[in-house]
Amino acid sequence: MSATYQVTDGVAVISLANPPVNGLGQGTRAGIVDGLAQANADAAVKAVVIIGSGKVFCGGADIKEFGSPKAFAAPDLHVTIAAVEQSAKPVVAAIHGVAMGGGLELALGCHYRVVAKGTQIALPEVNIGIVPGAGGTQRLPRVLGVETALQMITTGASVPADKLAAAPGQKLFNQLVDGDLLPAAIAFAQSVADARPLPSVRDLSVAAPADADAFAKARAELAKTRKNLEAPQRCVDCVEAATKLDLDAGIAYERDVFAKLVTSDQARALRHAFFGERAASKIPDVPDTTPLRDVKSVAVIGAGTMGGGITMCFLNAGIPVKLLEMKQEAIDRGVGVIRKNYEAQVAKGKLSQDKYEQRMALLTTTLSYEDIAQADMVIEAVFEDMDVKAQVFTQLDAVMKPGAILASNTSTLDVDKIAEVTKRPGDVIGLHFFSPANVMRLLEVVRSKHTAKDVMATVMAVAKKIKKVAVVSGVCDGFIGNRMFEQYVRQGFFLVEEGATVQQVDKAAEAFGWAMGPFRVGDLAGNDIGFAIRKRRKVEQPDVIYSPVGDAICELGRFGQKVGKGWYDYEVGKREPVPSAEVQACIDKVRADKGVTPRAISDDEIVQRLVLAMVNEGAKILEEGIASKASDIDMVYLTGYGFPVYRGGPMLYADMLGLPKVVELMKGFAANPNGDPAFWTPAPLLAQLASQGKGFTG
Ligand code: NAI
Repeated sequence: MSATYQVTDGVAVISLANPPVNGLGQGTRAGIVDGLAQANADAAVKAVVIIGSGKVFCGGADIKEFGSPKAFAAPDLHVTIAAVEQSAKPVVAAIHGVAMGGGLELALGCHYRVVAKGTQIALPEVNIGIVPGAGGTQRLPRVLGVETALQMITTGASVPADKLAAAPGQKLFNQLVDGDLLPAAIAFAQSVADARPLPSVRDLSVAAPADADAFAKARAELAKTRKNLEAPQRCVDCVEAATKLDLDAGIAYERDVFAKLVTSDQARALRHAFFGERAASKIPDVPDTTPLRDVKSVAVIGAGTMGGGITMCFLNAGIPVKLLEMKQEAIDRGVGVIRKNYEAQVAKGKLSQDKYEQRMALLTTTLSYEDIAQADMVIEAVFEDMDVKAQVFTQLDAVMKPGAILASNTSTLDVDKIAEVTKRPGDVIGLHFFSPANVMRLLEVVRSKHTAKDVMATVMAVAKKIKKVAVVSGVCDGFIGNRMFEQYVRQGFFLVEEGATVQQVDKAAEAFGWAMGPFRVGDLAGNDIGFAIRKRRKVEQPDVIYSPVGDAICELGRFGQKVGKGWYDYEVGKREPVPSAEVQACIDKVRADKGVTPRAISDDEIVQRLVLAMVNEGAKILEEGIASKASDIDMVYLTGYGFPVYRGGPMLYADMLGLPKVVELMKGFAANPNGDPAFWTPAPLLAQLASQGKGFTG
């Protein structure tokens, strides 16, 4: 039983005891139901308090039970809440820390609610592709009104209880407690012990929203802000139902919507992302108990695009940074960009002037390596050139204090080789931030064969502090993200060579849910980067085949938005892509030179080739141990590359398609003599899992 029972001064206290967040697992639910029965049977008990032990009231469903029959085992949450609601003696929820999801629904079933100051309240179910399933969509509008409830339920956002308690007309909280919660809750329970009839949220009516079009407007808005997502729309349906149906009918409606959503592909994908994020921080051979190194100060080398963004990540987390450059002008430029970024946030009201000044006060600059010697961690973000990096790491090796972590932000160079420049290779690691580094959530942690385990563990903890989703990658060309993205872009080139237009490929990718198609991404990032990589590859890996279209447009100087032309034309000062006659003529010429007769290519084929090219590479990445699990690959794509979150990432997408189907599609692509037929041989791991009826993600 994950709840305790104790009687104090005529009040039974049921204390939820299921660490870390008192999740409403079967044991906790049973503890509540049994406690209520005991309290109601005991003449000495006049009232009941339900409180959470530890730091929070209740975080909602027990995630350990997710996907298992235990989640719905008796007594389920509906039965538990009904037991609370039907208790003959008053039940007071005493809420502190957090009341989320099922935890808030449980509290809403109680007759009274007292809340500690500073508590956070939320119904976050929408974020995992479902609606609240135990009356939340019906009861919350009854206590907070339609507008507030709709906002909370459709966004899943946490709201401070203090703010809700202060709202005029709110019926969620009976008392806001500043101080010790339990004695206050017991005193409150005693004060209402004899009051009858017992109040119930079920007896409250829901006023229709002031704006008659509120629901239509909410749906339209969510179609834009939570594009293609099903759950937010269904949340609106449920809240609307609350305005039309009595509580029991509304709950039945909500239950039906919940049942449909919980088994949907979107909910599966969002659950995968939820658990994938937690799993990413676990490294199979680095135990949680690994001692961490202290990281209280950081040095960043290079104040360019990446160095500036990386510096901001640490300043934002309250960690002092010393920024090192070669020349004062470079420092001034870099610090100027950081200031401008913060000032833009202040102007938009996203950052207070005080916080801006506090952050800038944590930043110091230097031209001398001696000045950074005492930093606990140093991150290099200088030019992408092995000789330059080698010089930097040689200097770091000479000056840094023993135990300092030496990290490189390289996007393509061999971290093993960088480590070998030093006499302390175990302290060296790759930290591949994504641009803009202060915004993007992904951090690829590149583990060299030399990296010490405590350095891995420390870096994962630091990543959490700076609010990054850290995913571990082994050393290989492109690491996880860019190595797979390369295959995606390569297919894009083949597709236009064979007959698709640039616009068709981008539109099909965007309809699939990517934020931008491959050609628009190329124009944004700069086509010259890939051009340079292909040149290098022609020497290092001459058997990698590319369609010549990519190089052909670069030879015309079409490097992308920064020069006003790339795969598209751009009007001066505008980012709107305009189809380019010159690009089409260039593609026509490649076709003519290669003797390719263009054919009509369906949007379906475009999407499958783009995504499955990544999947095949992803399978190789898993096989080689570059990624330790498929969900890590998916996290890279969800947090760093704009892969649609409701599809769960490329590896889950393949699993949902079914790996035998994936293999069959690849066979079809291999039969196409254009492009790179050999590439479509399924990776051995993919073939093996498909034949065993298994998936990548388990
Ligand atoms: P950048 O050219 O904007 O900045 C490089 C800065 O390093 C310049 O300010 C330069 O003065 C400074 N620098 C060069 N040599 C130095 C030295 N020996 N000592 C001190 N400072 C020195 O380049 P960017 O884009 O910031 O890239 C930096 C690193 O980050 C590269 O390794 C790049 O591959 C990697 N990276 C870049 C991404 C991007 O989107 N730009 C994404 C992820 C990684």
